[in-house]
Amino acid sequence: MHNDIKSTVLTSEQIQETCKRLGQEITKDYDGKNPLCIGILKGSILFMADLIKNIDTHVELEFMDVSSYHGGTESTGEVKILKDLDVSVEGRDLIIIEDILETGTTLNAIVDLLKYRKAKSIEIVTLLDKPMRRKVEIEAKYVGEKIPDEFVVGYGLDYQERYRNLPYIGLLKEEVYTK
Ligand code: XMP
Ligand code: MG
Repeated sequence: MHNDIKSTVLTSEQIQETCKRLGQEITKDYDGKNPLCIGILKGSILFMADLIKNIDTHVELEFMDVSSYHGGTESTGEVKILKDLDVSVEGRDLIIIEDILETGTTLNAIVDLLKYRKAKSIEIVTLLDKPMRRKVEIEAKYVGEKIPDEFVVGYGLDYQERYRNLPYIGLLKEEVYTK
């Protein structure tokens, strides 16, 4: 385990099992539909890579990068698009791939935008869900694991851009935050 990590929340093996289960559900629901999978950068890239290996039907991949505007520590609900999609979503079945769903403000704004652009259907797959933190009404159809309200890193998730490369998800030692 990395020296900065206090404890593991999900092991690499648990993550792979989760990707397998979610991949099978998505395969069943989207067989023959050619969905467009939209990965939200940067946190979702490891999850997306492992998830799609378990989807056994045609999928296409796209990416979006958004940033939430924060007034202090609370999200204002507005998001800024840093990288937009390269293709039209009109009439397409979309699967948004996220690392973690917390207040829901980020995904809510993305879903609104994609609805406005006339997507045929929009579902969310998230590796992690912190339902206790939710502020807007939004749920993911496919959820890997529900976790308590603690800040996690690894497997795409960062603290100050570090730890994305860890193959597992864990909690940071307190001293890392105060450094
Ligand atoms: P909302 O609140 O809009 O935010 O659902 C989801 C986004 O917040 C980030 N986030 C985290 N990032 N560890 C992280 O590294 C966490 O525990 C955590 N919780 C939220 C993440 O970018 C996500 O897309
Ligand atoms: Mg993110």
